[in-house]
Amino acid sequence: MDQLSRVSNEAQRRRTFAVISHPDAGKSTLTEALALHAEVIDEAGAVHGKAGRRGVTSDWMEMERKRGISITSAVLQFAYRDHVINLLDTPGHGDFSEDTYRVLAAVDAAVMLLDAAKGLEPQTLKLFDVCRTRGIPVLTFVNKWDRPGREALELLDEVEQTIGLRPMPVTWPVGRAGELRGLVEIGTGQFARYSRTAGGATRGDVEVLDPEQAAEQEPEHWVAAQEEIALLREIGAGYDEKEFLAGIATPVLFGAALSGVGVGRLLDALVELAPAPEPRLDAEGEPRPLDTPLSGLVFKVQAGMDRSHRDRMAFVRICSGRFERGMVLTHAATKRPFATKYAQAVFGQQRTTVEEAFPGDIVGLVNAGALRPGDTLYEAAPVEFPAIPSFAPEHFSVARGADAGRFKQFRRGIDQLDSEGVIQVLRSDLRGDQSPVLAAVGPLQFEVVSSRMADEFGAPVTLEPLSYSVTRRTDAEGAELLARQAEVEVLERRADGALLAVFVNKWRLETIRRKFPDLTLDPLPAGSTDR
Ligand code: G4P
Repeated sequence: MDQLSRVSNEAQRRRTFAVISHPDAGKSTLTEALALHAEVIDEAGAVHGKAGRRGVTSDWMEMERKRGISITSAVLQFAYRDHVINLLDTPGHGDFSEDTYRVLAAVDAAVMLLDAAKGLEPQTLKLFDVCRTRGIPVLTFVNKWDRPGREALELLDEVEQTIGLRPMPVTWPVGRAGELRGLVEIGTGQFARYSRTAGGATRGDVEVLDPEQAAEQEPEHWVAAQEEIALLREIGAGYDEKEFLAGIATPVLFGAALSGVGVGRLLDALVELAPAPEPRLDAEGEPRPLDTPLSGLVFKVQAGMDRSHRDRMAFVRICSGRFERGMVLTHAATKRPFATKYAQAVFGQQRTTVEEAFPGDIVGLVNAGALRPGDTLYEAAPVEFPAIPSFAPEHFSVARGADAGRFKQFRRGIDQLDSEGVIQVLRSDLRGDQSPVLAAVGPLQFEVVSSRMADEFGAPVTLEPLSYSVTRRTDAEGAELLARQAEVEVLERRADGALLAVFVNKWRLETIRRKFPDLTLDPLPAGSTDR
């Protein structure tokens, strides 16, 4: 097989996705269960480390552990059937929604994970909005069916009414939430009965029964499930691939990640229904064919993942071509060469060297000093993918070095956090570079700054909060005019030179807008609060 058709074949085998959910819906548990099912790990707990579980993904920051949140995303790759699954983890906390957005720029599909007792929760809604904006097809997994929760039909109705996504059940639970017996396959009518496993510690066993056997063995629950399925047929909840890929409808599966129920079925659905990588559109809107020379999108830059190596890793999603370790790429933003001698896959705490990779795969490039999230790398034929937009910051603080003698370290630290996209750094002539304004979507980002500045750069900072909360983009003319107004300030974002007008509140913004109707005040993508 020649090299190019090999690329297309390998790309066809890839499924690259992320799980979107509200904290506590079971994302870590599901991630472990998926890996366990595909036999990547032999005991739940090796991927993420929450209290009481074995192993810790990202121990680079004490804060993560204390708060039980994951800031450092893990990328999990495993083989399933004859496919390669790439599962990208997203930070669990809404304050890091900008990071999540970047991760979602690198996937081809998402699994929306719902807690059966809670349904759609705020963070799920926000993340779903991102998927909708980016046109990412979404599969839905209703989790925790092993304990009391809401009615299945009611949950589907909520999905349809709240986010306008037509649910298309692929499986249906037999037994109400809390009395789960197994799952019916809507397409074939077959019943998969699960045997219990203790706390999800091992892969559960599945017994497949035909409808007659199922009716005999689970008389009461089976009849109830059949009635609901008949109702689904009446309202036309059949599977439609086009609508799924267009983001209008969502295949729905049920299960319980903790005991492994429905997890294998979800993997099958990913392989059978979720799209393989497709040609990515460049900044001009032209698709970059999969079988052209290598191109990749940097979607995350992370320092300090390994305390023993003070390195900085850029996570690159391969968009076209075959990646081979050692190849020299071009960094589109600077046109400089970038050598890929140190290419790694990061799985929990383990790192392994990546020798080759294909579209859909994620490669971690070490020593990635010059790379920023949103950057493009390419081989031979130049290409640049569209920038990943920054969110509207809603929290602002002035940063000052606590120790005047360590200004060099202070500046280096701020520069680095800026280029990793940990925080947005804003400046103005009035304030000067000794005391930049740090802007965040959520306040936890400031905690990351404080802790990393002290631990990693040896430059403790003081952060003085500013009372701004609303951001709009303006231009030079607007900046000049706004400089004479109270309760507003114009700052320049260091990363891209954008002029951001920051207001104390939305009423102040409205007053100024009414006074100067021609002023440029464009909204930025919203991150945390407003929906
Ligand atoms: P997250 O990453 O989305 O924040 O959620 P996580 O997996 O940590 O799960 C949150 C809680 O929900 C955990 O309990 C977990 O055990 C539980 N859980 C996840 N999936 C299921 C399921 O299918 N059924 C049931 N009954 N529970 C589930 P915890 O007590 O908060 O934490 P832990 O001490 O068990 O880790």
